[in-house]
Amino acid sequence: MNRSILLSATIVLTAAALHGQTPIYQDESRPLEERVEDALSRMTLDEKVAMLHAEGKFASAGVPRLGIPDLWMSDGPHGVRAEINWNDWGYSKRTNDSIAAFPALTALAATWNRDLSELYGQALAEEALYREKDVMLGPGVNIYRTPLNGRNFEYMGEDPCLAGEMVVPYIRGMQRNGVAACVKHYALNNQEVWRGHIDVQLSDRALREIYLPAFEKAVKEGGAWSIMGSYNKVRGQHACHNDLLLNKILKDEWGFDGVVITDWGGAHDTREAALCGLDLEMGTYTNGLTSESAFTTDQYYLANPYKELLLKGDLPMEGLDDKVRRLLRLNFRTAARRLKPYGSIASPEHYAIAEAIGDEAVVLLKNDAPGKKKKGATPLLPIDAAKYDRILVVGENATRNLMEGGGSSDLKPKDIVTPLDGLRALYGDKIEYTPGYKSGKPMYGKVEKIRAAVTDSLRRRAVEMAREADLVIFVGGLNKNHGQDCENGDREEYALPFGQPRLIDDLAEVNPNLVVVLLSGNAVEMPWASKVPAIVQGWYLGSMAGKSIASVISGKVNPSGKLPFSIPVKLEDNGAHHFGTISYPGDSIRQEYLEDILVGYRWHDTKKIPALYPFGHGLSYTTFDYGKPTLSSPTLSPDGSLTLSIPVSNVGKQAGKETVQLYVSELSPRLTRPAKELKAFEKISLAPGQTKVVHFTVTPDMLRYYDPDTSAWRADPGKYRLLIGSSSTDLRSGIDFKY
Ligand code: GLC
Repeated sequence: MNRSILLSATIVLTAAALHGQTPIYQDESRPLEERVEDALSRMTLDEKVAMLHAEGKFASAGVPRLGIPDLWMSDGPHGVRAEINWNDWGYSKRTNDSIAAFPALTALAATWNRDLSELYGQALAEEALYREKDVMLGPGVNIYRTPLNGRNFEYMGEDPCLAGEMVVPYIRGMQRNGVAACVKHYALNNQEVWRGHIDVQLSDRALREIYLPAFEKAVKEGGAWSIMGSYNKVRGQHACHNDLLLNKILKDEWGFDGVVITDWGGAHDTREAALCGLDLEMGTYTNGLTSESAFTTDQYYLANPYKELLLKGDLPMEGLDDKVRRLLRLNFRTAARRLKPYGSIASPEHYAIAEAIGDEAVVLLKNDAPGKKKKGATPLLPIDAAKYDRILVVGENATRNLMEGGGSSDLKPKDIVTPLDGLRALYGDKIEYTPGYKSGKPMYGKVEKIRAAVTDSLRRRAVEMAREADLVIFVGGLNKNHGQDCENGDREEYALPFGQPRLIDDLAEVNPNLVVVLLSGNAVEMPWASKVPAIVQGWYLGSMAGKSIASVISGKVNPSGKLPFSIPVKLEDNGAHHFGTISYPGDSIRQEYLEDILVGYRWHDTKKIPALYPFGHGLSYTTFDYGKPTLSSPTLSPDGSLTLSIPVSNVGKQAGKETVQLYVSELSPRLTRPAKELKAFEKISLAPGQTKVVHFTVTPDMLRYYDPDTSAWRADPGKYRLLIGSSSTDLRSGIDFKY
């Protein structure tokens, strides 16, 4: 726009303002697209280009001359990260940015509770509003392909249906408050090893049936306002500017009208960034965690280099305007929105939501009677405190702040209730504690080595105390150190670290009344499982972790969590680890997803390799009986639907919640298909003796698979089976129909 037009535009604007007329782009009563077009028409080339890249570590430019505010972003998926400096990765060390830390997303997925997910998104948005953030960099829905991936704790498990169903309410709860979700990392960022460049090769079916559906739901049903491109390459092109993923699928096919934001440092080429779907470039020349650069943001790929190519006519102005429209749309939905809630931080309401999610996330994996198996003997959990005078808590994770570290999801919680705090609050001075093992501080890129002598003495001390105790509660698992559940690196072993397997063996040796509580975001090897009567998967539950752990162990809460991923007996039983290093972690340049569509339980079922604890598994302190299913018709037509109804009863003595799972199996498929696939689930609450009839609507799209020959979805005529159960292997009934 040349100077005279700019001058006259400014005069018009000023005149309008003097007469109290609100310019169209500022008038929140006008349609969004009208406001976007009006603002776009007033912007100069420099103002447009400035909007497309960072101006600070977590901020991008608005249009100061028009009063359009900067866009402020913050990590992460589980809480609002502490303030980071304007132009480096250091924390600003403020005293006013502590927050409520919510459970990690694997824990949220383990609740299988859509309502809790919506509350989660809403509460996190309220914290973001208070901290004046417009875009929250989460949730993550990368599929759990291998138990070694350092960031699985930030994602929602191995199944696209569960991840998709659980991410939609989170987005809606967040965006209803005027805070944008930024669903990440799109796509195929399923490991941290070589994350910045590994080139993922996979079939169309694996891409469409396994790795994209949760993102598709996030966009089409959740209405996500932004998406974060991932660091890795997909079929030879960086995901942050990838024609197939961003132009063809995300924007054209799915109709995404929001902003594609790079992961921090995910842009690598101006022409590709201009033409292959990128809209906002952040963190270039850094590794997204620590490394810095001497470059200023006007040297970013979508800054001056882009402007030069535009001015030369090498790149189309239309492409620039499309990006700016998306940035303006995001800005008017968030930063520029005047009428939005105040927000709140670390409030009792938010802690109550975090605790409610934690209560429903904890998964009771095993609950037998201690010692020799006598028929009808009482299971060890819930513990009856009257029976025990000395309860020993062992394990560093009983006291560790597990919200610290892990990479960009690192949080500074205002309040923490640790498992030891929670157990002490219930059992007072019956509780004794000893760490049992030591793991060192969470640090990026390296691990503090703990001397064997230290580990040995801690173990011996714990075993001595266990010998004298009436009950032992071991609280271990992984943590947020590098090489554990942490970004920018994967786990190097499937086994529990820090000498825990030996410690658990020794504890079991001296005391049969042993509960093992694992706090982690990943499956771990459990060679000691047969020696331990009770095993609890306790996740990373955030600020109120200790309350939920204690509530479940004591029976105050009846556990209802279900695994969002399989727990293999050994690593080689997992599909990604069946095809050698080219499958995982790749050859440092490329990798091939050779297990294809058979991820997680799909692999275990189809290859008949039983998991130690299967996808969808979780015990209760009560018992649920499933009645006979009925189907509204024996035939489903392409434009119709069926209703499956099944009565579920609580036949125990305690109220409880059950997640009824519906799997679909094609009986004579044309192509290889998983033995069964989760297509629906419903979590119900039942009082003792109560029965509810659960209804599922079965539609043709539950039968479909992606046909690589026609590059289209299809469902073939034939016989199908509906399997209903309490886990992917605990199937209580089945019923067939024809399509
Ligand atoms: C990191 C992460 C991403 C995060 C971003 C900003 O490298 O991959 O999830 O949101 O950079 O910290």
